[in-house]
Amino acid sequence: MARIRTAQIDVPQSVIRTAAGLIRQGQVVAFPTETIYGLGANALDETAVRKVFELKGRPADNPLIVHVDGRRMLRRVVKDIPEGAELLMRRFWPGPLTIILPKTAAVPDITTAGRDDVAVRMPDHVVALGLIKAAGVPIAAPSANKSGRSSPTTAAHVLEDFPGLMVIDGGSTQHGVESTVISLIGKPVVLRLGAVTLERIREVMPEVKVSVKMRKGTAPASPGQKYRHYAPSVPLHVFNDAASLKRYAKSRRCLTILAKESRISELTGLKAVNLGKTDEEIARNLYNTLRSTKKGEILVLAISRRGLGRTIMDRLERAATEGKNGRKRT
Ligand code: TXA
Ligand code: MG
Repeated sequence: MARIRTAQIDVPQSVIRTAAGLIRQGQVVAFPTETIYGLGANALDETAVRKVFELKGRPADNPLIVHVDGRRMLRRVVKDIPEGAELLMRRFWPGPLTIILPKTAAVPDITTAGRDDVAVRMPDHVVALGLIKAAGVPIAAPSANKSGRSSPTTAAHVLEDFPGLMVIDGGSTQHGVESTVISLIGKPVVLRLGAVTLERIREVMPEVKVSVKMRKGTAPASPGQKYRHYAPSVPLHVFNDAASLKRYAKSRRCLTILAKESRISELTGLKAVNLGKTDEEIARNLYNTLRSTKKGEILVLAISRRGLGRTIMDRLERAATEGKNGRKRT
């Protein structure tokens, strides 16, 4: 039997065919991408997309990313491909960069939450691409977690949130954090930090702006910025320095303390979990660690906000609990 080789797991071609058949029939199927697992449905089928919103408990004003297998499919969902988009696609596709462009009439309102623009990306994953190709339709897919929870990086995470759902198991995902989202409606602006770093985008688009946080009294640049994200099931606090983490830890019990390998030695007297040596490793481990901590509190020693570190800190701050050391979220 023909099998597709992923990082950890071989996926039989027949599984992809079955899943593609379900997508074509308007069902929802979870599948791996190079970032995280997605909860997929035919992006052009209103009823199918509604199922995704219902399953996830996702607010109707938060649009979905539409996944395509190449240029021809892209043109079915996007009206206009400006030069900037060409530049970014040549550099980063297939890969973890989502681009917001004007949509065609083929994309129903529900997929884009009533907007005239649509978020599109071509994933760099044999299973995801094979599924889209076999289905023959673009696949709308948010992260395959219940709204507000951490994104899934394994099939087991998906099943934790959605028991009984069909998931194509492709093993652990490569990046572990979501795609970077950039809008090309007007001047280029990054709306969500992600697996492609700002530094890399600036190499090809030096003028790009960043608007990843909601400012008080203004409308969010992207609807997703309004909602709480990536929350573990226990309180989480981020500390910039070891001394304040240690002070907090003194009076508490049942703590899971997380730190980058090179900073663990600063936490003398405490038992810290090694998040990884490099930022890439930390990103890959992050959601799994947050999900697997089911009691007590999580304390994290901050990592430097450069490159992928900026994305990791963004996720940790959004996951953090309200309070002195965390940020309030709605
Ligand atoms: O890596 C990823 O991007 C994964 C995999 C499955 O591809 N998907 C993912 O989707 O993270 P989701 O739905 O969890 O996050 C999509 C983000 C949300 O913050 C949403 O508000 C924003 O993209 N978004 C989607 N369409 C948009 C649009 N037309 N305008 C502005 N923001 C948009
Ligand atoms: Mg999500």
